[in-house]
Amino acid sequence: MTPLTEQATANLDIPGLEAKLLNQSPQKILQHALSLFDTIAISFSGAEDVVLIDMAAKINRDIKVFSLDTGRLHPETYQFIDRVRKHYGIPIEVMYPDTAQVEGLVTAKGLFSFYEDGHKECCDIRKVAPLRRKLSTLDAWITGQRQDQNPSTRGKVPVVQIDTAFSTSDRPLIKFNPLSYWTSADVWMYIRSYDVPYNPLHERGFISIGCEPCTRHVLPNQHEREGRWWWEDATKKECGLHTINLNQVS
Ligand code: ADX
Ligand code: SF4
Repeated sequence: MTPLTEQATANLDIPGLEAKLLNQSPQKILQHALSLFDTIAISFSGAEDVVLIDMAAKINRDIKVFSLDTGRLHPETYQFIDRVRKHYGIPIEVMYPDTAQVEGLVTAKGLFSFYEDGHKECCDIRKVAPLRRKLSTLDAWITGQRQDQNPSTRGKVPVVQIDTAFSTSDRPLIKFNPLSYWTSADVWMYIRSYDVPYNPLHERGFISIGCEPCTRHVLPNQHEREGRWWWEDATKKECGLHTINLNQVS
């Protein structure tokens, strides 16, 4: 993490913006975010993100969306990404990991090293590095994180923040989380009300969906993220996309 210079943050009153947006609807937060920044994009993988795409497309047809293809997603997820592209008639920029890094990891440790020594190394190569590459082209990004997704790591996710994990010393990156205060029930109410496309894996007991080897369905009353990296401790269930959340764990 590179410390931001005072000059870089001088024009950004993020606490003021947060106070202004705190009680606004996700649509209003999105509208504000899209009006503030030209180089801003939605980071898309799951149900929450399509809700954001649906809302944003109703504000501005020219929205920018990207997705990180780790190479380990479910076939259903690939089909879902393409369905969303066609449904909204928008380009989805798909980011890929560095070939040499993937080859190096798989050759040295095999295809399932994360079960033995944790998911960080693989996530760093397959998700975080491509994300960093994409974010270096943006002034702001929009995620579908919700506070109740994981009380221990996301319980304090604000509607807007400086993303200190991906900012550079002279270039702050702003992160909007318009669904921060929504529950899973709110998200699914929206999906059903507006016929928003969703990943068919949800019909088979999956709630939070990531890569195929690191995601499994959950049983009734299990928390939605129990199906992610289930062999690891709940406080470690961040893959590096949202490491600033770990600084907020109390
Ligand atoms: S993760 O860090 O555990 O994988 P999660 O699946 O909860 O994240 O998603 C939280 C938000 O991170 C999503 O709403 C989305 O904005 C972003 N995100 C997660 N995975 C991806 C991906 N593969 N491509 C693009 N954005 C993603
Ligand atoms: Fe690798 Fe699993 Fe992380 Fe996907 S979620 S990048 S397969 S460790």
